[in-house]
Amino acid sequence: MKAVVYNGPRQVSVSNVPDARIEKPTDAVVRMTTTNICGSDLHMYEGRTNFETGRVFGHENLGQVIEVGAGVDRIKKGDWVCLPFNIGCGFCENCERGLTGYCLTCNPGTAGAAYGFAGMGPFQGGQAEALRVPYADFNCLSLPKDAQEKEDDYVMLSDIFPTGWHSTELAGVLPGETVAVYGAGPVGLMAAHSAIIKGASRVFVVDMHDDRLKLAELLGAIPVDMRRCDPVEEILGQTDGLGTDRGCECVGYQCCDRHGREVNNFTMNSLVATTKATGGIGVIGVFLPQDPGASDALAKQGKMAFDFGALWSKGQRIATGEANVKAYNRRLRDLIHVGKAKPSCIISHRLGLDQAPDAYKHFDARDEGWTKVVLKPAA
Ligand SMILES: NC(=O)c1ccc[n+]([C@@H]2O[C@H](COP(=O)([O-])OP(=O)(O)OC[C@H]3O[C@@H](n4cnc5c(N)ncnc54)[C@H](O)[C@@H]3O)[C@@H](O)[C@H]2O)c1
Ligand SMILES: [Zn+2]
Ligand SMILES: [Zn+2]
Repeated sequence: MKAVVYNGPRQVSVSNVPDARIEKPTDAVVRMTTTNICGSDLHMYEGRTNFETGRVFGHENLGQVIEVGAGVDRIKKGDWVCLPFNIGCGFCENCERGLTGYCLTCNPGTAGAAYGFAGMGPFQGGQAEALRVPYADFNCLSLPKDAQEKEDDYVMLSDIFPTGWHSTELAGVLPGETVAVYGAGPVGLMAAHSAIIKGASRVFVVDMHDDRLKLAELLGAIPVDMRRCDPVEEILGQTDGLGTDRGCECVGYQCCDRHGREVNNFTMNSLVATTKATGGIGVIGVFLPQDPGASDALAKQGKMAFDFGALWSKGQRIATGEANVKAYNRRLRDLIHVGKAKPSCIISHRLGLDQAPDAYKHFDARDEGWTKVVLKPAA
């Protein structure tokens, strides 16, 4: 089958790889109809992780089941399913508690497994004609009758919508509160969408790209263009100097200063500054334990100069980590089904698998107009 293969920093190709197949009786094979490129793919694409060459990208996957193993009960051939990016077993201590992003058995020795992901096990990604899904009964989210009609909305249940939602859960967003979201990439936009659905009174979204800030505004948020103002001064100025009740980090370790230079503590220290005393901060942007490609010595070791004294004095809470997609995807699916959420509104490009190498280039450069790419392997 054809798949998007990583060949080294900023080199991907659409190549032939062995067909996805049933390896254990609990597996299913899904024909991929929509699979997205994610900001997380870019860390790997740029060579800023230990992702192995020859591996297939793709952890935001939706399609139709074409085969099930003998041990699969619930899922049937022909079902339309969306797959959480994290793979859970369903029976370990963490999966039992709903923390499927930290499954203890799928990738032994580490907590957490995912498709096509550095350090998350040997699983191939879904930017391909088909995908092997382990523990299919547990991992497949079944989609309703409008699966194909709303396919571009439902595919966002694989990662960015639940992940954006998770950042608002980690921050503790309540109806009526004010929220600052750093990053207007797909995940930050979904954090803003989530906060607004939850009834936040005002949501600020910080970024430096017109197209992304425009989408934030379309979603009902207040755009803060960090090229034109200091985001900390701006948010404090608009909140009587107090800051917002909650803050969401949706950028990660490759965050930049106002001049576009990578400075890994920029968003975290901004959040401490723009979050109210006793407020909550949710961090879903990825920070790595090592980053040999970073330019400063602390960042190379996965460390940063963090304003801990200010955080402590303000009595703020901070929570971090991978989104446990299964904790939210069923309920977010139902919001899409009834028309109360529309995550597809951020999509800029729908392309065939063959166009993936070019799409990676543009999305990685954050080129104007490339806000979210979905690939259509079956088209
Ligand atoms: N925790 C999880 O489970 C999980 C899941 C998916 C993605 N992620 C991570 O979330 C992050 C965002 O993903 P994405 O797909 O939206 O990525 P993206 O790279 O498309 O978007 C990041 C955005 O942040 C902006 N930015 C850079 N520096 C900034 C700053 N100082 N302040 C405000 N904005 C700044 C960039 O201009 C860009 O628009 C990535 O680190 C990704 O790996 C985490
Ligand atoms: Zn993703
Ligand atoms: Zn598990």
